[in-house]
Amino acid sequence: MSAPRILATGRCLPARVVTNEDLSRRVDTSDEWVFSRTGIHSRHFCAGETGLELAEGAARQGLERAGLTPAEVGVCLVGTFTPDFASPSMACLLQQRLGLPEDTLCFDLNAACAGFLYGMKTAHALLPDAPRPYALLVGCEVISRVLDMDDRNTCVLFGDGAGAAVLCRDEAGGWHTVFGSRGDPQSIWVQGPGQEPAAVHMDGKNVFRFAVEVVEGSIRQLLAAEGLDSVNDLDLVVCHQANARIIDHVAKKLRAREGLFYKNMDRYGNTSAASIPIALDELSQAGALRPGMRLVTVGFGGGLTWAGALLRW
Ligand code: UT7
Repeated sequence: MSAPRILATGRCLPARVVTNEDLSRRVDTSDEWVFSRTGIHSRHFCAGETGLELAEGAARQGLERAGLTPAEVGVCLVGTFTPDFASPSMACLLQQRLGLPEDTLCFDLNAACAGFLYGMKTAHALLPDAPRPYALLVGCEVISRVLDMDDRNTCVLFGDGAGAAVLCRDEAGGWHTVFGSRGDPQSIWVQGPGQEPAAVHMDGKNVFRFAVEVVEGSIRQLLAAEGLDSVNDLDLVVCHQANARIIDHVAKKLRAREGLFYKNMDRYGNTSAASIPIALDELSQAGALRPGMRLVTVGFGGGLTWAGALLRW
């Protein structure tokens, strides 16, 4: 069974860092409340940067580290729910910026915070028929553009950023995946173009329960598919970075060893489709990902959607 192989990663964050302390000057909140409920200390918010600039920065890093030129890319996908325009897609904008060949398959996909893993599945499926054997997959979000900065329930939770992965198909490799969606229009929803005011609405408690359920369930399914008894047989687990308490709950239920579940939401907040590739890039740049390592990654969010993959680095 073939598998997608991640050849290299990249990330790009807006320059402006906004701390919980900064937000507490606008809404009735505190660093103590936000950190203890979510594990978030600060996030990056765009101050003039476009989503395309973030996507381009992450993509160029990924391509350079993979030792590839834009002319070698056959598939370009962007996972996002906050594109710069309804049309053209972020992927087509990125095609023009990078100079990707005309026959590159370019489109965006929206599976909210599960978007990166839906993108990986899609890129892997498209590559056999693509004109060239490499896929560029970017998770890119400018969530600050749809946040109500006067709503303390949501403005403290999210951040902007982009992460990229360069993929090819490994015909000898194996991977396992799990995907799902629940057709739930209420738990998380974001107004579309022309619907004012733009804002994210979320039933936090409901989403929290959903997240713990599907992350634990997905990991158990992936372990069973690989024939593993324990999550501790994995080298690393990289979940969507929405809330440290979600990750801690799951880690406790699975009796995971200390440090198995990676966490970086303290510095980024929830960057939706960008959170998993940003985390993978941090880990890769820190030398924490070595060839052959077995890792599980799980995303979950609006839709409600979820997705998990067990793969080899
Ligand atoms: O990527 C998409 C996936 N999204 C998620 O995974 C989010 C999942 N949910 C969560 O992370 C948590 O539910 C939240 C962090 C959103 C909220 O935590 P909570 O422990 O469920 O708090 P709550 O919503 O029950 O609010 C408790 C109290 C409320 O006050 P009252 O009504 O009890 O007086 C809120 O008004 O905390 C208040 N509150 C705040 N207080 C200070 C809500 N936001 C804030 C805030 N600062 N920023």
